[in-house]
Amino acid sequence: MSFSKGFRCLGYFRNLHYRQGVVNHRFNSSYALAYEVFGEPTEVLKKVPIQTERHVKGNHVMIKYLASPINPADINTIQGVYPVKPTSFPVIGGNEGVAEVIQVGPNVKNIKLGDKVIPSGSTTGTWTTHRVLTEKDLIVLDKNIDTMFAAQIAVNPCTAYRMMQDFVKLKEGDSIIQNGGNSAVGIYVIQLAKFWNIRSINVIRDRPDLEQTKEYLKSLGADYVLTEEEIRKRELMDKIFSDISKPKLALNCVGGQCATDCVRHLDDDGTMVTYGGMSKKPVVIPTGSFIFKNHKYVGYWQTRWNMMNFNSSQRHKMLEELTELSANKKLITPKVIQVSLDEYKEAIENMQKGFSNAKYVFKFD
Ligand SMILES: NC(=O)c1ccc[n+]([C@@H]2O[C@H](COP(=O)([O-])OP(=O)(O)OC[C@H]3O[C@@H](n4cnc5c(N)ncnc54)[C@H](OP(=O)(O)O)[C@@H]3O)[C@@H](O)[C@H]2O)c1
Repeated sequence: MSFSKGFRCLGYFRNLHYRQGVVNHRFNSSYALAYEVFGEPTEVLKKVPIQTERHVKGNHVMIKYLASPINPADINTIQGVYPVKPTSFPVIGGNEGVAEVIQVGPNVKNIKLGDKVIPSGSTTGTWTTHRVLTEKDLIVLDKNIDTMFAAQIAVNPCTAYRMMQDFVKLKEGDSIIQNGGNSAVGIYVIQLAKFWNIRSINVIRDRPDLEQTKEYLKSLGADYVLTEEEIRKRELMDKIFSDISKPKLALNCVGGQCATDCVRHLDDDGTMVTYGGMSKKPVVIPTGSFIFKNHKYVGYWQTRWNMMNFNSSQRHKMLEELTELSANKKLITPKVIQVSLDEYKEAIENMQKGFSNAKYVFKFD
């Protein structure tokens, strides 16, 4: 495999002196994880040297990535089964991450050296040490934001936030049910629910470290953590519903039998939001749920919401609120396993095995 057309060796890219600012960065190498064809990430991804402009011009900004997570959607994108597809190859993997601004072009107005930024759109390629983008491709975050939280702020916390805000008017004391309770999105849902005084029932798969996982999620604010089997136990569920109300909102990232079982506990007129399909099985809804319980079924996709609200005040307000919650320790980042670009195969293989209880994040030096 050759990346000669798209990526050239970076031999001369040394001892950069920035015209505009005080930062005098020196870096010997700039690398990315990229692919030239769709396929299994461990087979098609390659770590390649890349070349970026020596001095950025106009409204361009050079950024140096600090951290970038591996999300399930990144895997699906590389496999070619995600709705957003790259239009030309080779392409750099990754969809979100946080970077530091290391050079700004003369026409850049609202971004300065040292700012912490995230990409404003999707599929920009974040598994890379450096990138040159335009000012409008970037959103500036609070400079004190925690790096690991910032690396993941654009997708999972926002998804959790919107799904709990936009579909059902939840009030204090109401309850929700979700599967994938230990997923990154699920962990943010648990913490936002706790912060907004909403009770949560969180469904996870049975696992060797079940009790530790339950305790961990409860320590974050989960009211109940149950296995997929436990939510089928009538007596147990009756006991729970003598303590909390029936959920008005169900969040589904798994599909298959587990989604159907969550629906059985949804209150009349309740809504299920499907945002993932981790079991790769379809969502099957009992007929009575539509006719007698008046349940509603909707989907949510953060990418679409971002496109509709690209530079909206609503988006900036949400990011500010989430940043503040993180700063006040009301929102803890899911457990992170930091890896280098060289460790991508092992990280992706482990992630695909499941039960990792953690998010793999590329950390750049
Ligand atoms: N629609 C949107 O806008 C949007 C936004 C963000 C995320 N998502 C989707 O939400 C899902 C979770 O994303 P994430 O970043 O939070 O993922 P994550 O942290 O990697 O967690 C993956 C979750 O899926 C569970 N899982 C994996 N395989 C499963 C299976 N066969 N059956 C049941 N559960 C299974 C895992 O449970 P174990 O620990 O038991 O393996 C874990 O809870 C993904 O499908 C992702 O694409 C969608």
